[in-house]
Amino acid sequence: MSTETQADSSAARSGSDTLTVTDNRTGQTFELPITDGTVRAMDFRQMKVDEDDFGLMTYDPAFTNTASCRSAVTFIDGDAGILEYRGYPIEQLAEKSTYLEVSYLLVHGELPTQPQLDEWTNDITMHTFVHENVKEFVGGFRHDAHPMGMLLGAVGALSTFYPEATEIKDTENRHTRGQPLVYPDNDLRYPGNFLGMLYKMTELKYQPDPRLERALDILFILHADHEQNCSTNAVRAVGSSEVDPYSAVAGGIAALYGPLHGGANEAVLRMLRRVGTKENIPAFMKGVKQGEERLMGFGHRVYKNHDPRATIIKSATEDVFEVTGKNPLLEIAMELEKIALADEYFVSRKLYPNVDFYSGLIYEALGLPVEMFPVMFAIPRTSGWISQWLEMVVDSEQKIARPRQIYTGARGRDYAEIGSR
Ligand code: CMC
Repeated sequence: MSTETQADSSAARSGSDTLTVTDNRTGQTFELPITDGTVRAMDFRQMKVDEDDFGLMTYDPAFTNTASCRSAVTFIDGDAGILEYRGYPIEQLAEKSTYLEVSYLLVHGELPTQPQLDEWTNDITMHTFVHENVKEFVGGFRHDAHPMGMLLGAVGALSTFYPEATEIKDTENRHTRGQPLVYPDNDLRYPGNFLGMLYKMTELKYQPDPRLERALDILFILHADHEQNCSTNAVRAVGSSEVDPYSAVAGGIAALYGPLHGGANEAVLRMLRRVGTKENIPAFMKGVKQGEERLMGFGHRVYKNHDPRATIIKSATEDVFEVTGKNPLLEIAMELEKIALADEYFVSRKLYPNVDFYSGLIYEALGLPVEMFPVMFAIPRTSGWISQWLEMVVDSEQKIARPRQIYTGARGRDYAEIGSR
């Protein structure tokens, strides 16, 4: 009988939602309440060997089995490959909704009525112009600065000189290319406006291709939130000090920047370019299986069956390639996926393509340089970060984040003068 089944049947027998723990150091027994499938880590503190003992702690590096908050924003069932925002399946939102409507849903908890959506859209559209000083600020970065570093710096800076800003727009890409910054055109919808600010040159009016506009909207929807991931945890941890939300979001951007998280889409593209041809795939895969490097865009802490976002993105690539032409790296990506999904190494570790495996191919087809890919993740994720931050600041159970540690260093050493060391 498995442990889980044993536990289920004992609870059913006793009819009580509690956990009985015997501390074998002292022989004492404790009964801990179980609520929502969890026990409180603080309940272990009462378990002591003597009066001076600090009390038992739980040890959980990287929070792999610890809930850090209650949240009603996003639900994930990793084994079943389910992702829902406020209870709505991601597949339905990607098919029927828009990013702005989804961001309203995330922040307010309900889908908007038409007047609510109109007001929300108007509010955001009217705030697409950032303060002129932002231009000077962005101009101060070196010409080859990574856009993610610029975004991180710029959002942090917003807390100092533009506290009312709700959007930070893409000025980084044009800065890198030496192109003049483009002001928003509020006749366009959110994703079209975004494309216009990326690509408008001398034409009087930029007209986005509706298929690209829709593909971008879907990508934004898919990236809007993802429960307590690394960057959201960073936003919550930084925000728990009651700092302003701009600074908290800058902390989230920093966490997202890493290649194991939002930087993975950039890393995937670089990997595909490096592999280059199908002939190189076997040697590359051998290196991955020997632990020399990771197959970027594969694997997930929570999804152990499939990442529903990856499935939606894969089908969106077809619409984009219809407009832009096929990205030659698609073939390499598909071949890598095929080989990996049939390989014992990946199958036994439950490694499947995640959201980042195909998204980079779309961004590249849209003409974006690879450094911009994590920025394209950060922009839509802002609505998720803010929804989670709003939830946290009114949660009376939350306090300033402050984990404990198991101290492994020396103690009580006497200072030695420099000449005698
Ligand atoms: N390629 C090769 N092996 C892998 C990979 C990979 N992409 N991912 C995990 N493994 C192996 C890992 O070496 C380990 O093997 P072993 O048990 O023999 O030591 C096993 O699978 C378990 O890995 P883990 O590191 O314990 O898993 P984790 O849950 O800590 O890591 C992850 C999750 C996403 C960081 C990891 O799968 C990874 O590094 N993937 C590549 C980077 C990536 O695509 N990140 C984007 C994640 S989705 C977007 C987002 O929300 O951020």
